[in-house]
Amino acid sequence: MSMKEDLERALEDAKAAFARVKDKIELANEKANWLGKKGPLAAIMANMRNLTAEERKEVGQVSNITKQGISDAYDAKLKELNDKEINARIEQEKIDITMPGYTFKKGTIHPLMQTIEDMEDLFIGQGYEIAEGPEIETDTYCFEKLNLPKGHPARDMQDTFYIDAERLLRSQTSPVQARTMELKEGKPIKIICPGKVYRRDADDATHSHQFMQMEGLVLGKNITMADLKGALLSIARKMFGEEREIRLRPSYFPFTEPSVEVDVSCARCGGKGCPTCKGTGWIEVLGAGMVNNRVLEMSGYDPKEIQGFAFGVGVERVAMLKYGIDDIRNFYTNDIRFLDEFKEER
Ligand code: PHE
Repeated sequence: MSMKEDLERALEDAKAAFARVKDKIELANEKANWLGKKGPLAAIMANMRNLTAEERKEVGQVSNITKQGISDAYDAKLKELNDKEINARIEQEKIDITMPGYTFKKGTIHPLMQTIEDMEDLFIGQGYEIAEGPEIETDTYCFEKLNLPKGHPARDMQDTFYIDAERLLRSQTSPVQARTMELKEGKPIKIICPGKVYRRDADDATHSHQFMQMEGLVLGKNITMADLKGALLSIARKMFGEEREIRLRPSYFPFTEPSVEVDVSCARCGGKGCPTCKGTGWIEVLGAGMVNNRVLEMSGYDPKEIQGFAFGVGVERVAMLKYGIDDIRNFYTNDIRFLDEFKEER
């Protein structure tokens, strides 16, 4: 067999050998076998000097072609193995986007917060701004500036938690009225003040030592009791339904004069009388009145120039009526079974 044929055969054998290779280690070994010092090409090269110039030329050419062929076969195999490796990695690291995700237990907005948000929406829609104040108040703002001087008997109803002789947990959101009046320096006001209040009350189904109020204050020129009645009626209808009526009963608050207790016709029976309204057809919902002149004066307003009204409502009471909740303590105990009941409400 001629050397040329030897080389052609070597190329074929090398190709076949590379084709059988399964991994990079085997590939490296085959490379050494065919292109290394002990390979067929090296042997032929070593034998070159025994050949004639003519033969050398021919063998040189053929061995170059063979060497190139073997290198190409090696490169092709290396690429094939590399591609395989990358594809395996891609396959392994693939994210299956069709896989079902984790389900998280979704919470709900607390019925009290929902009630506050609904009420805020209602009032903002009527042009009110939201005003807030501190829960740790001073005796001055919580009582004195609301016409409840020290020793006033009406303080009894609003006994609260004292930090010292002057600082206390506010028993009503009314101090925000006085604070806002001082800020506005005699100018018209239309605000609601939502927030937490505290009282020295024993907890039961309808009382809590901590609850939420929303207070409203409207001050301007020529505001009368008729404006108050109109405002209360629209609030009652927005909150409890367009068919509601209201009834004002004389009452007493030191900071309003005259003062009224506001009843709303029972939303459950429409006013006919049922257990919810204790057979009366009416439910007491708000306290209200025309702002007392003394309160206006104490906060720098001239009652001859500017008058107005205030009202206060218990948020828990509204939520209890709206959702038919019979125990105020349900709002605070964070029983998930209770909270879950409000999932479908919205
Ligand atoms: N602040 C009063 C209370 O807590 C409620 C109220 C507010 C009454 C405004 C009249 C006007 O009892």
